[in-house]
Amino acid sequence: MAKTSTSFFCKNCGASSSKWVGKCSSCGEWNTYVEEVIHKEKSDFKSTWKKSIAKGQALKPVLLHEVEKGNEQRIEIKDKEFERVLGGGIVPGSVVLIGGEPGIGKSTLMLQLALQLNGKKVLYISGEESDTQIKMRAERIPFSNNECYLFTDTSTQKIGQAFKELEPDIVIVDSIQTLQSELLDSTPGSISQIKETAGDMIRFAKETGTPVFLIGHITKDGTLAGPKLLEHMVDTVLQFEGDRHHVYRILRTTKNRFGSTSEIGIYEMQSVGLREVSNPSEILISQRDEALSGVAISATIEGMRPLLIETQALVSQAVYGTPQRNSNGYDAKRLNMLLAILEKKCGLKMGLQDVFVNIAGGLRVEDPGIDLSIVAAIVSSYENVAIAGKICFVGEVGLSGEIRAVNRVEQRISEAEKLGFNTVYLSKFNKIPKSQTKIKIVEIGKLDELLNLLFG
Ligand code: TYD
Ligand code: MG
Repeated sequence: MAKTSTSFFCKNCGASSSKWVGKCSSCGEWNTYVEEVIHKEKSDFKSTWKKSIAKGQALKPVLLHEVEKGNEQRIEIKDKEFERVLGGGIVPGSVVLIGGEPGIGKSTLMLQLALQLNGKKVLYISGEESDTQIKMRAERIPFSNNECYLFTDTSTQKIGQAFKELEPDIVIVDSIQTLQSELLDSTPGSISQIKETAGDMIRFAKETGTPVFLIGHITKDGTLAGPKLLEHMVDTVLQFEGDRHHVYRILRTTKNRFGSTSEIGIYEMQSVGLREVSNPSEILISQRDEALSGVAISATIEGMRPLLIETQALVSQAVYGTPQRNSNGYDAKRLNMLLAILEKKCGLKMGLQDVFVNIAGGLRVEDPGIDLSIVAAIVSSYENVAIAGKICFVGEVGLSGEIRAVNRVEQRISEAEKLGFNTVYLSKFNKIPKSQTKIKIVEIGKLDELLNLLFG
């Protein structure tokens, strides 16, 4: 039997060392080395794929302009939200890593993708669920693919064999943390295993031109589990996020070698799988019969799309010593800043009030363009006066109470107009050609002007 050997690995960059070191000599991070049992032989994850395309390439340097443009077509997908996030269809030979909290719907999203790719041979490798469990999940999803194969073995050597026999068009791995290379003694999910197995999957993708999707777990602090190196190795990193108690999910790109990283896809989790939400504004604005105080609508930009969102605030007399400030979906520090501006520049006694802010639908918005709407909601609740009429607020609030211009304002205005809003409050520094829009534009320069206009 082979002697047990251990090695130390850097959690950040995956570098290895035979002894523990405090500072990684490769990435410079401190305290990132962990010990793992290994016993490594030469890799036998064979690169003798039938479809192999890489043979004989790049043996010597080539001139860029002489390199032939690949004529491979991206694989089209039915799911338009997914397609937008990838920056078009699936690129042959690409490796996509999808991270997200447990239970957010990663497996559902990927199984749904597999079933939607009718006519393609999809191999779904699962180390987390059994065939029957996957079958049960698939039965809830209203798509079917006659060539969707399941494989529940997690050894990359066996998987390599399956690749050879099946020659899949697309591979999905659920999840990279469950894969195991028989050459290493360390447990699945350890740094050395993730490095090795991800390397195997990437080699397969690049050598055969088969796209591979890897599902990845995330750690408590929200980063992908395993070495940071994993994110460097793959072509695209997607984050599937959302509030588990809400039905909306957002698919976001954090890295994309083949497209923009500012795209998002929105889904709704239903009992029959994930539904694409192609017009998110309509559902994010709650349907109300009457105007309520503490509610204002803003137009934000998520990715490349304008999105109307409902900002809600509740301001009430603080009953316990220190007033409470609570924010859901909006930066809490920014909320404190807005309250300080209201106190100092508009004379509202916010210091004595509990203030709660919420963005409807469980969304997180980082765009400062919704400041104006947050302020309008706060003052509306403070004064207990509803904002009457169909008004949309767009503007960033500066420290001296000035309303600053926002980017892509035309898109925001046209989204508001499309959804039946008749007035939009904007910074006077946003230059809009008036003739273009039917909607009434109210330009404001300072916060007190807004408060005068709305609450007299
Ligand atoms: P799952 O894909 O297992 O999450 P992950 O792989 O990210 O851990 O999905 C988790 C949740 O989705 C689970 O709580 C049940 C719910 N769900 C639905 O609401 N509708 C469905 O059609 C399916 C398949 C799952
Ligand atoms: Mg899962």
